[in-house]
Amino acid sequence: MQQVYVEGKIVINKQIEKNIYMISVEGKFEAKPGQFYMIRAWDKEPFLSRPISVYDLDDEKISFVYEVRGKGTEILSKKNCGDAIKLMGPCGNGFDVDKIKGKIAVVTGGIGIAPMLYTIKSIKDSKIDIFAGFREKSYITNEMKKYADNVYITTDNGSEGYKGNVAEIFNPIEYNAVLCCGPTVMMKKVSNMCLNSGTACLISMEEKMACGVGACLGCACNTSDGKKRVCKDGPVFWGREVILSA
Ligand SMILES: Cc1cc2nc3c(=O)[nH]c(=O)nc-3n(C[C@H](O)[C@H](O)[C@H](O)COP(=O)(O)OP(=O)(O)OC[C@H]3O[C@@H](n4cnc5c(N)ncnc54)[C@H](O)[C@@H]3O)c2cc1C
Ligand code: FES
Repeated sequence: MQQVYVEGKIVINKQIEKNIYMISVEGKFEAKPGQFYMIRAWDKEPFLSRPISVYDLDDEKISFVYEVRGKGTEILSKKNCGDAIKLMGPCGNGFDVDKIKGKIAVVTGGIGIAPMLYTIKSIKDSKIDIFAGFREKSYITNEMKKYADNVYITTDNGSEGYKGNVAEIFNPIEYNAVLCCGPTVMMKKVSNMCLNSGTACLISMEEKMACGVGACLGCACNTSDGKKRVCKDGPVFWGREVILSA
């Protein structure tokens, strides 16, 4: 893992939905699906860099999809093409895609869909169904359709797809493995459903991060094997391993 920040030139930074942006940075970067980069688009303030998952990658650029939540992502959203940002990575373990085979369900909530495009592009010889939940409007699902067998959308208000949440429309028993990323309450529900049906479940965790490289313990989560660092031991864990407090 590279532990230094490199500077990269922004070639795309566009709004794709309300508060949701896609940014691409020029250069040849590396990453496994599910890994993330620590990003800073500012000098001193805010003090900490922000972890963002790899959305897509090719020989010329790396791309991220992010939701504007607070100060850091707000500054990022105001950057223009040609501006430089700093990136460190790839960080974390990512999904071991070579071992993911058979009939796969990808279950996401909101911006939890961001790491899944690169992930499903990298899974070979499998059937993949996507269950993606949003508040009001979907994003990225059209790109996902190119690599998935089925894409099922839910929204909280029913304005698109099924009215309700993803846990109501997917049955883990139909799948060999489930990959899940989203709000903790949703991941806990999906993980428990998988436990009850004996289906393997991998979840990608979100915790606030400081160093991003395993040195500060600021991102620790509780597991059946004691505390683990989301930035270094994760962000991908077995659902049965993590104790989610939601
Ligand atoms: C491994 C990992 C991968 C991630 N990938 C993505 C991604 O691909 N796209 C994306 O939009 N976001 C992603 N996130 C979340 C992203 O890092 C936070 O939204 C971001 O750090 C918020 O920074 P801010 O300065 O805009 O907000 P802040 O001002 O720091 O916080 C604003 C709000 O966001 C919440 N928040 C802050 N950090 C996190 C966090 N790490 N997780 C959950 N909530 C947080 C705060 O509690 C607060 O309510 C990821 C987080 C992790 C740990
Ligand atoms: S953020 Fe420092 S150990 Fe994870």
